[in-house]
Amino acid sequence: METEIQLRNQIFQRLIDYQHQDENRLAFHLTPPIGLMNDPNGLVYYKGKYHVFYQWNPFDTNHTFKCWGHYSSSDFIHWEEHPPALVPSEWYEKDGCYSGSAIVHDSKLYLFYTGNVKTTEGGRETYQCLAVSDDGVHFEKKGPVIYLPKGFTPHFRDPKVWKQEDKWLMVIGAQTEELEGLTAVFASNDLINWQWQGPLAGNGVSLSKYFGYMWECPDFFSLNGKDILIVSPQGLEAQPFQYENLYQSGYFIGEWDSKTNKYVHGTFHELDHGFDFYAPQTFEDPNGRRILLAWMGMGDEQEQTHQSIKSGWIHSLTIPRELTVKDGRLYQKPIEELKQLRNKARSEIFSIANEEKEVLFDSELQEIIIDIEQFEGNKWEIQIHNHCKLIFNRKDSIVTLERQNFNHSKLETRQCKINKIDNIHMYLDRTSLEIFLNNGQIVFSSRYYKKTIKNQCLISVEGKAKLRWKNWSLYSYQ
Ligand code: FRU
Repeated sequence: METEIQLRNQIFQRLIDYQHQDENRLAFHLTPPIGLMNDPNGLVYYKGKYHVFYQWNPFDTNHTFKCWGHYSSSDFIHWEEHPPALVPSEWYEKDGCYSGSAIVHDSKLYLFYTGNVKTTEGGRETYQCLAVSDDGVHFEKKGPVIYLPKGFTPHFRDPKVWKQEDKWLMVIGAQTEELEGLTAVFASNDLINWQWQGPLAGNGVSLSKYFGYMWECPDFFSLNGKDILIVSPQGLEAQPFQYENLYQSGYFIGEWDSKTNKYVHGTFHELDHGFDFYAPQTFEDPNGRRILLAWMGMGDEQEQTHQSIKSGWIHSLTIPRELTVKDGRLYQKPIEELKQLRNKARSEIFSIANEEKEVLFDSELQEIIIDIEQFEGNKWEIQIHNHCKLIFNRKDSIVTLERQNFNHSKLETRQCKINKIDNIHMYLDRTSLEIFLNNGQIVFSSRYYKKTIKNQCLISVEGKAKLRWKNWSLYSYQ
């Protein structure tokens, strides 16, 4: 208890001491007040508010300490910051309150999370733990409810809980003793006693080939009549147009028989093709929408070169996106509520033929919607704020996002295959970019740091194009 109080006080002292306004701070995305943010945790609607918890190191901009930071909102626009919900204070979580999920039961909020313990021999232990609250802000720890089952290494974490008929179910991200990634299922009648149900997906279960050495942060839900498993596999080899980041996040679509725990699914699709996207989680809101948020970051070798580290913080979450299943794929659409950010609008039709068109903005915060009504030619490019570029090469059916790396010393790209682009929807925050193509069929999420501030887009077309252009300057709520 004493450690917990000391830690809380230290965290708040640092917040009070720190000035966290700077030109890189995002205006309408959740960022850590200070320190490092990674995975979204425990997304839930409870007592009239949306709650977003997150993996937080308030003491440094690295991954050495992890507690659960906490924001809540009634509209996804105005966020209230709360004291950290879970800080490591007990033996079973002494080296981190790791990722997990939330459910509401009997008017109480239940958090399931992983207690991470490092042993003196350099190993680790893992405990799936429970904490309960009846105000959504203060949590009482109940300790471990699941211990490591046989056949797995201690890379066994990130419980996601949901209710199916009259039973509680949980998926956990795991690594087998053969060092392969897998998702495991547990069931419970009372949220305290959990029974092993078997594996859900992975090599030798639902796949016939190696597919990474660890699957982190699973999420499993039904949407539009399909059973969808979202997972973040580590250890996939980069291929042209696929798996270009250090770690991936994507989904399987299939059918699950809850009685036999048999899951038959299709191939893995990446959720996002940008540089910065990992550990997505979803929840169902009171209107039945399936909403996704992800860590807009990546723990790769560029991580420690983020310019925001100078100001004492790093990373953010994505904007919330509503999911739907269409033509065997998950589509992502920025949630309706984000329209409240819209300020001054502009709307125009551009006819461009083998030339460049400059569109100047009166603010760096922009929402842009471009309907491509006609395109005859090989290629178009949109340069954003003089920094990133979205390029469509029609001959090769490739869309590319290009950015300068964080030191501005080289260009780097992420690519994917696409035959046709009919529309582009973009959200530009101060140092982030989210691009939704074809009504959310393909998404690119990326951070970037500007060299010069030039609030503009530069469109260039090899061939002929007619574009219906709309943009809004956006309000900042932070
Ligand atoms: C994913 C992850 C999780 C873990 C958490 C620790 O980014 O590695 O598997 O619970 O981050 O912060």
